[in-house]
Amino acid sequence: MPREQGKDLKPEGRPELGEVGGIPLPKTTCNEWARIQSFQAKPDDLLICTYPKAGTTWIQEIVDMIQQEGDLEKCQRAPVHHRHPFIEWARPPQPSGVEQADAMPSPRTLKTHLPVQLLPRSFWEQKCKFLYVARNAKDCMVSYFHFQRMSKVIPDPGTWPEYFEIFMAGKVGWGPWYDHVKGWWKAKDSHRVLFLFYEDMKKNPKHEIQKVIQFVGKQLDEATVDKIVHHTSFDVMKDNPMANRAGVPLSVMDQSISPFMRKGTVGDWKNHFTVAQNERFDEDYRRKMADTTLTFSVGF
Ligand code: A3P
Repeated sequence: MPREQGKDLKPEGRPELGEVGGIPLPKTTCNEWARIQSFQAKPDDLLICTYPKAGTTWIQEIVDMIQQEGDLEKCQRAPVHHRHPFIEWARPPQPSGVEQADAMPSPRTLKTHLPVQLLPRSFWEQKCKFLYVARNAKDCMVSYFHFQRMSKVIPDPGTWPEYFEIFMAGKVGWGPWYDHVKGWWKAKDSHRVLFLFYEDMKKNPKHEIQKVIQFVGKQLDEATVDKIVHHTSFDVMKDNPMANRAGVPLSVMDQSISPFMRKGTVGDWKNHFTVAQNERFDEDYRRKMADTTLTFSVGF
């Protein structure tokens, strides 16, 4: 392994996290922070914003299907994670998210997991549109745990009981779930934010997809909307090599440990949380979420 890439690795070969403004982020992202912060957004950028594992890939496929007006072939042009530059992603020698975005013609659709306080200022200044998807904390935790087991470019999660504590303490990549969702929820009062919930998308995908169509300013006929609903369902996306990360090398993701398209359900936390963990989580959650009007329709 080249020295440059190897220097931030722990003995077991997993990279460590660094920190920006108290938020844990991949070290390679921290190293590029000055360039990420000075990223120049444009007024017609659409930014897809999520906490990790909240359904980013799902909303990316939905947005692309809408923008391509249901043309499946166009949506097969590249793996979904390459269609929308991930602005804070930096893993040399590959081009960084900033470099990919800079090279992209407008109108651009970009992706971020950043909490509001770390978002490059130009996005606010340019009054961009933000599409935020929130997923309940317990399912996010479970999904993130399995993702960290199989993704080789982020830290090993340890055991489930260990991870449970790490997640509640916000010591995971992109920081505390609680502040992330609260920050974006508040941002919608003064910026152009469409705030969606994973649980609503599961319950009534067509309804939520129609909100996205309206938000991005498209007009699509009923048959196209139905096609998008079908194509972006979990079962179809799981078998779509342009969505399921099939082309990602084993050294980056080992899907034999846990598939990227894992379960795609609401409430899988019930298969992971012990009764004691659930009580502890709920008590801590009430305290951390006491200062917001944001509520989730499941799990609490
Ligand atoms: P699970 O691990 O609970 O299955 P992200 O794209 O933000 O990394 O989120 C990944 C999570 O979204 C995974 O959750 C994945 O299965 C789920 N997901 C991806 N596509 C989906 C879809 N079409 N419908 C429902 N869930 C989906």
